Amino acid sequence: MSPGDILLLLLLFPLLSLSPNAVAGSDDVGVLFTSSRWIVDRTGSRVKLACANWAAHLDPVVAEGLGNQPVDRIASSVRSMGFNCVRLTWPVYLATRTSLASLTVDGSLRRLGLADSAEGVAVNNPRLLNLTLIEAFKEVVWTLGRHNIMVILDNQISAPGWCCSKLDGNGFFGDKYFDPNEWIESLKKMAAIFNSSPNVVGISLRNELRGPRQNLIDWYRYMQRGAEAVHAANPAVLVILSGLDYDKTLAFLHDKPLEDLSFKGKLVFELHWYGFSDGGDWENGNTNAVCGDISQGIMAKGGFLLEQGWPLFLSEFGVDIKGDNPGDNHFLSCFLSVAAELDLDWAIWALQGSYYIREGRPNYDETYGVLSWDWSEPRNPYFLQRISAIQSPFQDPSISNSPAYDVIFHPSTGLCVLRDRLNGRPVLGSCDENEAWNYTSQHKLVLKDSGLCLQTEEEDNGVKFGEECEDSGSKWEAISKSGMLLSTRSGNNGSLACMDVRSDKAIVTSPCSCLEKEGPCSAAESQWFKIVYSNRRGGSSFSKLRSS
Ligand SMILES: *[C@@H]1O[C@H](CO)[C@@H](O)[C@H](O)[C@H]1NC(C)=O
Ligand SMILES: *[C@@H]1O[C@H](CO)[C@@H](O)[C@H](O)[C@H]1NC(C)=O
Ligand SMILES: *[C@@H]1O[C@H](CO)[C@@H](O)[C@H](O)[C@H]1NC(C)=O
Repeated sequence: MSPGDILLLLLLFPLLSLSPNAVAGSDDVGVLFTSSRWIVDRTGSRVKLACANWAAHLDPVVAEGLGNQPVDRIASSVRSMGFNCVRLTWPVYLATRTSLASLTVDGSLRRLGLADSAEGVAVNNPRLLNLTLIEAFKEVVWTLGRHNIMVILDNQISAPGWCCSKLDGNGFFGDKYFDPNEWIESLKKMAAIFNSSPNVVGISLRNELRGPRQNLIDWYRYMQRGAEAVHAANPAVLVILSGLDYDKTLAFLHDKPLEDLSFKGKLVFELHWYGFSDGGDWENGNTNAVCGDISQGIMAKGGFLLEQGWPLFLSEFGVDIKGDNPGDNHFLSCFLSVAAELDLDWAIWALQGSYYIREGRPNYDETYGVLSWDWSEPRNPYFLQRISAIQSPFQDPSISNSPAYDVIFHPSTGLCVLRDRLNGRPVLGSCDENEAWNYTSQHKLVLKDSGLCLQTEEEDNGVKFGEECEDSGSKWEAISKSGMLLSTRSGNNGSLACMDVRSDKAIVTSPCSCLEKEGPCSAAESQWFKIVYSNRRGGSSFSKLRSS
């Protein structure tokens, strides 16, 4: 969409530009649009969704955690952990079954035998305790709004409960609990309820379609109806469509795009990617090969949409946050490299450290939750460091006068290669420092505008900055199926070595790990470096060098 189109939209929908709570400033939340593959604000500037999923669709139909912490404190922890958005889940019945929606929070928890949780809500959120479920849901949305947190309302399921299994009656249009007409009704209602809540920026129509009934004819038919229903009830929101097979694939759109929608500039697709969906590959395979193959698969299953000019929201991924699952750890490094390279919008599963009740078990610990079991603190601060680089945009299509550059991202730590301010040596540091590199066609890694390049050192397998960039020790070829091993031939014996990181974060070389011929192997991750294209402001090491 061109700026002209956006202007046209604003003229067509004058109310949108007058949302009462909108405040000036780049950090405020407001109406979003799509512009080719990007999600943008009304000025055309990139807005990157860095969301956490917050469940409110399980049996109690109460946003999780309200028995543990005040909703205000949960909202500020979302912000302080670096997220700008929540994907808040809800069941169809919350919108369509008055007998459910009119239960109070207290009543809903107690009917499930969760008196302890009800007492927790009374202590932590007394104002919410006697609200009806739908009123409490609104309060959560509005509280997030007061913290400038965007909300995507995600219809996770029809009948409240843990999602998702193939045979749970919630999998596809026509399943036991999944009446398409009731679903449309619920979308209309939720869209209308939040019509004047500027922080509700998107509605995702249905989570993880699946099961024996799934078919393309119904997908196109009902997704179109659902999209039109949401747009008619609330033209401000992004309309987000998920794929088939647990939202693991949108491949069918490659040759048959969704056509004939009455609106433009609002359509987004969502895809899910978990390591556990890839069999035991992340644990047992050769991580270079596995990452290379599976990333390619992700491009075929949904990444191609970016190339076709549609935004792709990676609306669920997740891992054991403590780092106790080796397969998850390998998956996460690979995921981060893809998310950085494609500069995806995303939502992690999950915010919640625990559930009131899940699959019959009270106070269920969510090992994928970024918050601890009692919601009082991050489950693992190091995990937050690892995802922090992808919480900010690398690219902004509206910045045209800012020169592009490369970032050298190290996914297994979440850090980037920088020039140490004190000793002038290459070192890992925060990606916010934003060093500007140029990975040239001759495979040199040049600090932009400075003439300095990375090269190997004779002693200690070190890597340093040099001015003579022509020798073989200055050439870094990206090898292996992952494409993330930066290899060089150097040192006294001229053997192949790969860029690596020492425990003090200094950049060094070591023998290349997990080249495919070695078979099962998981030792490569400290050697993974992803060259990421960026044009965000501030990426000028030359000015830093001159001033230092
Ligand atoms: C909630 O309602 C109950 C029963 O009507 C009442 O006793 C209690 O004081 C109320 N609690 C709050 C916090 O409003
Ligand atoms: C990198 O350097 C080459 C010249 O070696 C230049 O043509 C290219 O535009 C530069 N790329 C960036 C992103 O600065
Ligand atoms: C070559 O040198 C590197 C370090 O400089 C060392 O790790 C490797 O074992 C050496 N290879 C041979 C064949 O000597």
